[in-house]
Amino acid sequence: MSRRLRVAILISGRGSNMDALIEAARAPDFPAEIALVVSNRPEAAGLAKAKAAGIAVAAVDHKIYAGREEFERSLQIVLETHAIDLLCLAGFMRLLTPWFIGQWRERMLNIHPALLPAFRGLHTHERALAEGVKIHGCTVHFVVPEMDEGPIVAQAAVDVRDSDTPQTLAARVLEQEHLLYPRALRLVASGAVSVVGNRVLGAASAPEPALIVPSSG
Ligand code: GAR
Repeated sequence: MSRRLRVAILISGRGSNMDALIEAARAPDFPAEIALVVSNRPEAAGLAKAKAAGIAVAAVDHKIYAGREEFERSLQIVLETHAIDLLCLAGFMRLLTPWFIGQWRERMLNIHPALLPAFRGLHTHERALAEGVKIHGCTVHFVVPEMDEGPIVAQAAVDVRDSDTPQTLAARVLEQEHLLYPRALRLVASGAVSVVGNRVLGAASAPEPALIVPSSG
């Protein structure tokens, strides 16, 4: 097997997607290793969990920088110091500048709690209920300068139930996020997919295909 890519996960909070990626990357045949977890919030619960899991961690506190780009230049130095190949945003709640995104073109993934291009931005579960959609879900995509756009690697769907609240829907989508993100990272890190325009091609012939998973019950 070729060299495992060195992945940094960027978080801002609890880090449950981070946990799922760390767990998946323990498999000997996983094509990436989680080499670093970085948070822009030093108090993020995910940082302590990553440290306990034996992963190198760093906090780059955005509040001490004069602007976004100053923050990102520090972040970039940390990432370069750890020889990172690929970034996974996992509940990382800072908008990134075109400069930073340009450094990581086709090397930065994000997970979003909706079926993009529907429900970009925040409060996706509330908005899905308010719009009355019957299918909701999550998306892993490459990051481009436009927020919550970029070539889609994989999506997972859940049905929306009459009894759903934003909380119950969020919980079912989160379950799928934890399955989807490791699969998407595997596809990208193994080189199984390629980006052609706004499409990610090749997923069907990859070891684990892109998912559409209606939840049961
Ligand atoms: C996840 O649901 C993720 O999809 C979402 O934040 C949550 C983070 O949870 N991300 C976004 O909304 C990005 N715009 P986690 O810290 O437990 O992984």
